[in-house]
Amino acid sequence: MSNLIDILDLSVEEIDGLIATANDIIENPGKYAKACEGKILATLFFEPSTRTRLSFEAAMLNLGGSVLGFSEAGSSSTAKGESVADTIRTVNCYADIIAMRHPKEGAPIVAAKASRIPIINAGDGGHFHPTQTLTDLLTISRHKGRLNNLTIGLCGDLKFGRTVHSLIAAFSRYSGIKFVLISPEELCVPEYVKTETLDKKGIPYKEVRTIEEAIPELDILYMTRIQRERFADPAEYERLKNSFVLDLPKLEHAKSDLCIMHPLPRVNEISTKVDNDPRACYFDQMLCGKFIRMALILKLLAETPMLLSASGAECSCNEHGEELVNKVFCDNPRCITSIEQEIDHVFRYTDKENGICRCAYCEAQKKI
Ligand code: CP
Repeated sequence: MSNLIDILDLSVEEIDGLIATANDIIENPGKYAKACEGKILATLFFEPSTRTRLSFEAAMLNLGGSVLGFSEAGSSSTAKGESVADTIRTVNCYADIIAMRHPKEGAPIVAAKASRIPIINAGDGGHFHPTQTLTDLLTISRHKGRLNNLTIGLCGDLKFGRTVHSLIAAFSRYSGIKFVLISPEELCVPEYVKTETLDKKGIPYKEVRTIEEAIPELDILYMTRIQRERFADPAEYERLKNSFVLDLPKLEHAKSDLCIMHPLPRVNEISTKVDNDPRACYFDQMLCGKFIRMALILKLLAETPMLLSASGAECSCNEHGEELVNKVFCDNPRCITSIEQEIDHVFRYTDKENGICRCAYCEAQKKI
């Protein structure tokens, strides 16, 4: 593996290995203090972040490496119209590994195709956030002692919440998992996640509209923020923004060993009164983020051959079957193809008989 674009780029065994390394780092930090001496991590954040960017930077510094980068697109040559691919080619000259966040879905795939050094997707639009998922899996394994036989409630913005999409994909490979999807109708899990992951893998799930009806059976309650920045209509955000607030009265009916999680930032989804409840795991979750990112940086740097000969390291975009190149065009305004005119539009069939295909970058579905 040269890049981490989608959590499914990692096998279950590789995830287990990363969790084991992260646990070893927690136990023996000194052993890793010089592991990346002489290496440079570039953090390219075209969209705001506190935890992901700073935990990546802390991870590399704790490994003895160095960091460079930018925290907003406006302070890079993106503001002058530079493409993602040219930015990546530039940073290839100065760094050994890149962690990148971009508001457009599929941007990390474009980056990986242009890069000779590993690309880590640190969040692309409302699409994926695989290192948050690694963080979540480490947190759950440490708090529950297992990653199977869990009833997981996902609550809030399940449409635009990229952490939710990556988490469902990750847990689709573990046994005994049940999902309870708690959202307003307008923000429910995208259809492709239901049909192509939950239904296809026979994972039991139900959709409910309140925390109260779900909470008694849950082992994990994963709260999420309503993603204001993804709404086309601000009035719609205002109407939905306070759909769910987890407070102490709602927890009265929860299991005593419930694990309450949130990728953070929170806006109003969890009352601060919950913070001192022993079931609140979300602050520990963000600490886990640093350790699992240390493990990931170590793995990617160890596995990536120095200076790959051709442009375009291994990329999950290239590992699929028949592709339709510039025959079907993506009209999702959140897709990277909506802002970069030079990128080929690539679609793949998901149901060829019925002419159903999906954009290789953002997964928007089309019937042709
Ligand atoms: N969880 C997460 O991605 O947080 P940031 O947006 O602060 O990076």
